[in-house]
Amino acid sequence: MKNIEKVLIVGAGGREYSIGLAIKKDERVKELFFAPGNGATENLGTNISISDFNQLADFVVENGIGLTVVGPEQPLVDGIVDIFEARGLAVFGSSKGASQLEGSKVFMKNFLAKYNIPTARFIETSSLEESYKFIETLQVPIVVKADGLCGGKGVIIAQSHDEAKKTAGEMLSGNLFGDAGNKVVIEEFLDGYELSLFAISDGKNFKMLPAAQDHKRLLTGDEGPNTGGMGAYAPTPLINDELYKKIEERIIKPTLDGMEKDGNLFRGVLFAGLMIVNNEPYTLEFNVRFGDPECEILMPLIETPVAEMLYMATQGKLDEVDIKISDRYSVGVVIASEKYPYSSSTPAEIIVDEIVHGELAENSHISYAGVSKEDDKLYATGGRVLVAVGLGDSIQEARDRAYMLCGQIHFAGKQFRTDIAYQAL
Ligand code: AMP
Ligand code: GLY
Repeated sequence: MKNIEKVLIVGAGGREYSIGLAIKKDERVKELFFAPGNGATENLGTNISISDFNQLADFVVENGIGLTVVGPEQPLVDGIVDIFEARGLAVFGSSKGASQLEGSKVFMKNFLAKYNIPTARFIETSSLEESYKFIETLQVPIVVKADGLCGGKGVIIAQSHDEAKKTAGEMLSGNLFGDAGNKVVIEEFLDGYELSLFAISDGKNFKMLPAAQDHKRLLTGDEGPNTGGMGAYAPTPLINDELYKKIEERIIKPTLDGMEKDGNLFRGVLFAGLMIVNNEPYTLEFNVRFGDPECEILMPLIETPVAEMLYMATQGKLDEVDIKISDRYSVGVVIASEKYPYSSSTPAEIIVDEIVHGELAENSHISYAGVSKEDDKLYATGGRVLVAVGLGDSIQEARDRAYMLCGQIHFAGKQFRTDIAYQAL
């Protein structure tokens, strides 16, 4: 029996806020819970502060929650889905075994090699000597990656052979990323452009969402340090039907088939980080969750009721859902706090002007992330604070709306890039 009257969303970011916003559009959904949520998810539902997975499952049973959606990678890698499923609960996300695709770069690279799925030439090793030998065979730049989860910071692009060796040495000795660097992956540098492709999978059936492009660097013009992502847009014109087909046939399908064969049925979101070189897709990385801010721009493009789609995925019945995707465009601009990504910032009150322009009001919205709530006021509490999302019939229109909305949002120290989607214009 499909029961989506009450839904729990695990996570605290803009990604989880946007999933909540999308799910709430469905009249059948009466109540939303977030664990732990943020200051703004309180406006969509109820925040609960239970982090233990078994206790959270108790809460789900006691409250008759029919669907749980897990946003971030950490609880997935830690096995939340296995615990919920063992108790017969419908939970959208990948199992602990399947989450190794994100949790371990060594697992992922070996999996790709086993099933001949295109990726950069590499070795994985815990031997310094072996890493040196392989580094000698590569041209610069050389990519050195720590095995485990490092919050997106475990990848170093070395500009010389010496730097590559030094980095591998520091990772392997545990000085750089602790245990996450017990093993390293060393690989050739791929020179192309990056795309993020998301597939929603029930294990066998899957649906690819429009290709998105993230903006990892902090500053306009792709300058400054890497971040979790400063903006995104979709669909990107950097992809065509032929390329979609190649990605589907050479990467997504063989990955899902291979995971099933290996006893790690993949249910959830397969997020392929791709490098396109001469119109050929290569897998840079897999994540087992929606990207952030990609989720915030993709959710508004899904016309099918999201809770139902995710529920059916948990039941292995995605083929029974007619998944409709809007043919509009979506652009999201991240507004971050003053000192992001270097250090925390002093909380600052967020003021959003009343939006009097009807067209803007109807075609834009805010997805909140790093915020807290006090006396009904929202405060920016650091990191990426929110995403201003604009929708339109062209990228230009969607982008104009996202930036118009940015102009209506105020807090001390706000920073954002002014060139999101530049590659598409
Ligand atoms: P990853 O976490 O593996 O996706 O790596 C983070 C970022 O490093 C990617 O988004 C790329 O920008 C870059 N990167 C990783 N691997 C490679 C590669 N083999 N060639 C070029 N750039 C890469
Ligand atoms: N925006 C990239 C990520 O969520 O990993």
